[in-house]
Order: sequence, then C-alpha cells, then structure tokens
Amino acid sequence: SAAEKGGYDYFMLKEIAEQPKAVADTLLGRIDAAGSLTLDEVRISTAELREVDKVVIVACGTAFHAGLIAKYAIEHWTRIPCEVELASEFRYRDPILDPRTLVIAISQSGETMDTLMALRHAREQGSKVLAICNTNGSTIPRESDAVLYTHAGPEVAVASTKAFLTQLVACYLVALYLGQVRGTKWGDEIRAVIRDLSKISQEVERVLKTMEPVRELARSLATKNTVLFLGRHVGYPVALEGALKLKELAYMHAEGFAAGELKHGPIALIEKDLPVVVVVPSPRGRSVLHDKIVSNIQEIRARGARTIVIAEEGDEAVAPYADHLIRIPATPTLLQPLVATVPLQVFACELATARGNEVDQPRNLAKSVTVE
Ligand code: G6P
Repeated sequence: SAAEKGGYDYFMLKEIAEQPKAVADTLLGRIDAAGSLTLDEVRISTAELREVDKVVIVACGTAFHAGLIAKYAIEHWTRIPCEVELASEFRYRDPILDPRTLVIAISQSGETMDTLMALRHAREQGSKVLAICNTNGSTIPRESDAVLYTHAGPEVAVASTKAFLTQLVACYLVALYLGQVRGTKWGDEIRAVIRDLSKISQEVERVLKTMEPVRELARSLATKNTVLFLGRHVGYPVALEGALKLKELAYMHAEGFAAGELKHGPIALIEKDLPVVVVVPSPRGRSVLHDKIVSNIQEIRARGARTIVIAEEGDEAVAPYADHLIRIPATPTLLQPLVATVPLQVFACELATARGNEVDQPRNLAKSVTVE
C-alpha cells in the first residue's frame, strides 16, 4: 500500500531515500568511546582471527559487488590476501580452503541457495565462516560461525539498494577489525577511517538532494538500447553494479568494464551517441588512476561516446570531457562507492519508470533465490 511505501511510488525509491539512516544504523554501537571497534558479536576469537592467512568472499548479485569492493579494503588495511568469488562458481572448482581461511558470506536475505551451499562447503573443509547479512535469524547466519548484521531494515524492492550500502559498511568494519586485531592498523588510522565513515551518512544525504538532473538525464535516454559503465579500482565494481541495476530494472543491455581494459576490446563498441557512464576516482590520493581515467574519457569521447561522468566536487580536470557531469562529495578513495553508487541507483530506477517497467518487481527476477 501507499502507506507502506512511506509516500513514495515504489519501495525502491523509499529504500534509496533510507540509505543515510541505514548506513548510520550499521555503524551504531560498533565503535567505543575511544574510537576502537567493538565487534564482540563476531564470535570468532581474536586468536583465530590472528591466524587467518586468507580471506575468501562468496556472494551473488549485488552482494557480490560489495565483496569485490571489500577486497580492496581488506587487502589494503590488513595485508591478508583476499579472493572474491561468485557463490555459484565457488564449490564446483574444489577451492583451496583450510582452518586458516576466513570465508565471508555476504547476503541480504540470508537465504540465497548458492551462497548457502558455498558456506556449507567451506565449513566442511574446516574454514571459519562469517556472514554479513540483513535478515535476523535467516539460514545463512544460522549456519555460519559468526554474523555481522547489516541494519538496513527490511528491503522489499527486488533490486538491492540500501542493503548494498550497508554491506559495504559492514565489509569496511570487518576489514578494520581484522586490522585492529592483528595490529596492522592501529588506533589513529582506524579512528581516522571511522571518522570518515561516520560522516558518510550525511554525504549520502547530500547526494540524494542533487538527483534531479540525474533523473532528467535518465528520462532522456529512455529509448537507448545500450549503456556502458567504466571504472577503475573500487570504481570498477561500482560500474558493474550500475550496469546490473540497469539490466534488472530497465531491461537494457548494460555492461561494466574496468577502464584500463578499454583498449583490449570494449572500445570497439563505442559509436556515436552511445551513453557511457564513467566513475572517476578522486584526483587527490591516487592521482595516477585519476589521470588515466581522464584520458580514457577523452578516448571514448573522441569516438563519439556521450560521456556521463561521476566525479568528485572540485575535480575540474574532467569537466571539459563530460557531456553530463554528476558531482559527488569528496571521500577517501576506498569509501567512494558509498556515494558513487547512489546516482546509479537513481538513474536505473528513473529509466525503468520512463520505459514503463515495474520498478519493485522486475520481470523474471526474485528478491531471494532459494534454488541453485
Ligand atoms: C537476487 C536479488 C538480488 C540480490 C541477489 C543476492 O538475485 O534479485 O538483488 O543481489 O539475489 O541476494 P542476497 O539476498 O543473497 O543478497
């Protein structure tokens, strides 16, 4: 009913709007007064966490994209090698697992069969499994050694939005916690990231207030057949997520690429007026990445692409090459997906509406896939 949708036309719009609160709620109570992480709920002993020599993340769909982003944070902050794998591929290839492998299963519903089978397989090999899940008491957390709940609240729309942002927050917390427990990241550094994370909720709010031009742009592209998405570093999984949202909701051909791969194939797809969304990393920090992506934008624009550029406020270098410029607040590189994903959700939702599609219940899809 309209009341359940909180005055929004679709659950998806309501859930997009709830993201600042979902992000804040997922941080709540997990940081102590001194600024350290208190994840006592993660019932894997610190002794065991110190022994971990490999992290393997398994998930499906949007949760898999959260896992791809988590890999950057985990390896950067803990120096533990991390693999990310589609749950449906994982157990069929006889993966190398032992008691020192920490498997992280990410699932909004906690009922996805492929993810459940992957974690069962991992536990049979003696690995510890930590679930990151949004649904209390669901099967995946029940069968895991430990769980870190995301506090997104119930997500009704089939296309995942607020659950994704909270999965990212939970992954960052796990990465920092591993760093804290193992001593690779200490007090000040953890506190600095936590401070940035604590501000992110307001930044997401700010992004939400500037979405009208994105909706307008989406409507203007309603008759297109294809949209491509490019990104680098954590912007690459964001590009994959932007493309997945468009497939799910707008039923359009959409593909995400690592910008560095352009010249190895995808650039052959560029033709006049093809919309290409580019997620641009911050010009501060990893400026090499930024400069490379600016030349990628120039390359595709020279071949006629219509460039839709998502870039940090104050990044003037990209402006001349952007046919459409979507501004997001400046954040540390690793946290950028929390703000960069939001315009892509709005974009896909509005395109679906413009094409007359059912937003909350896209054709052929289910909210939770309980068969293999
Ligand atoms: C389905 C949903 C997706 C979701 C995926 C994984 O395909 O339509 O939105 O990302 O399952 O679901 P989970 O509940 O495990 O996160």
